[in-house]
Amino acid sequence: MNRDTELARGGLPPLDRATIHPFVDATPGPFFYQRMAHPVGAEAERLIGELEGGHALLFASGSGATTALVLAMLKPGSTVAVAGGGYYGTVGLMRELSRWGFEIEEFDQTGEPPDADLVWFEPCSNPMLSFPDLDVAIGQAHASGAVVVVDNTVLSPVLLRPLEHGADFVLHSGTKILAGHHDALIGVVTCARAEDHARLHAFRTVSGIVAAPDPAWLMLRGMKTLALRVPRQSATALELARRLEGHGLGFRKLHLIAPGVDFDAATERQGRNLVKALLIERRG
Ligand SMILES: Cc1ncc(COP(=O)(O)O)c(C=O)c1O
Repeated sequence: MNRDTELARGGLPPLDRATIHPFVDATPGPFFYQRMAHPVGAEAERLIGELEGGHALLFASGSGATTALVLAMLKPGSTVAVAGGGYYGTVGLMRELSRWGFEIEEFDQTGEPPDADLVWFEPCSNPMLSFPDLDVAIGQAHASGAVVVVDNTVLSPVLLRPLEHGADFVLHSGTKILAGHHDALIGVVTCARAEDHARLHAFRTVSGIVAAPDPAWLMLRGMKTLALRVPRQSATALELARRLEGHGLGFRKLHLIAPGVDFDAATERQGRNLVKALLIERRG
């Protein structure tokens, strides 16, 4: 089915808040205890997994998802290279976690990533809007043996599907564009491989960094309009950029880009291919 149709027509499941579901014939079902899984979360994971082309898991927040990913996949002595100029909370969290024996290095994601066990990209970084040459950069990271995570919070799967570019994991602060109504705190990781999904799911269950049914339901509700909101936000950002450009108020646009597209090309291609973000820098 067409992706936009699938998003818009998806029926919302009942908001089942039960923390336990009874055993059937003395056997626990998949939802027997909410910390392991719950029906609303399972539906959200199915939908996002389909959108990203992998195996999705919900977490209590984007930062919770980062915590789980780092703790589940790395060990003391591991090195992490994280895109500089991205979400400050990610670097701050990595530095906090580094007390357990990781080494953290920030790098310029528009160039070649340094050697590391895990390389963390944030295409169209928040707030600096830097953009790696994703295929090349992921290839270079893999060639040096790294696992690759792409934080896809800003672009959303409407604009970018990082697993198709070779990423091993995609992370979202679902709090932002996926849920879309600033009323739900939630995170998502989509894994390229089923075995990583199983490992991360096991870690989530023991750590309890889980998303409750309510934010999962609110995110599903928000996703019904995802395919409409993203192009509209892009068009608004583009219009704002045009007006600021002609305004002479001393502001300068830095970037308004889509994967592989610069501002001038982007202005020729309104709609889905445009990034919804706009960064303006005060002159002088
Ligand atoms: C790009 C990016 N990644 C991760 C996060 C963290 O997500 P959360 O606030 O849901 O913990 C944020 C939050 O602003 C973000 O902008």
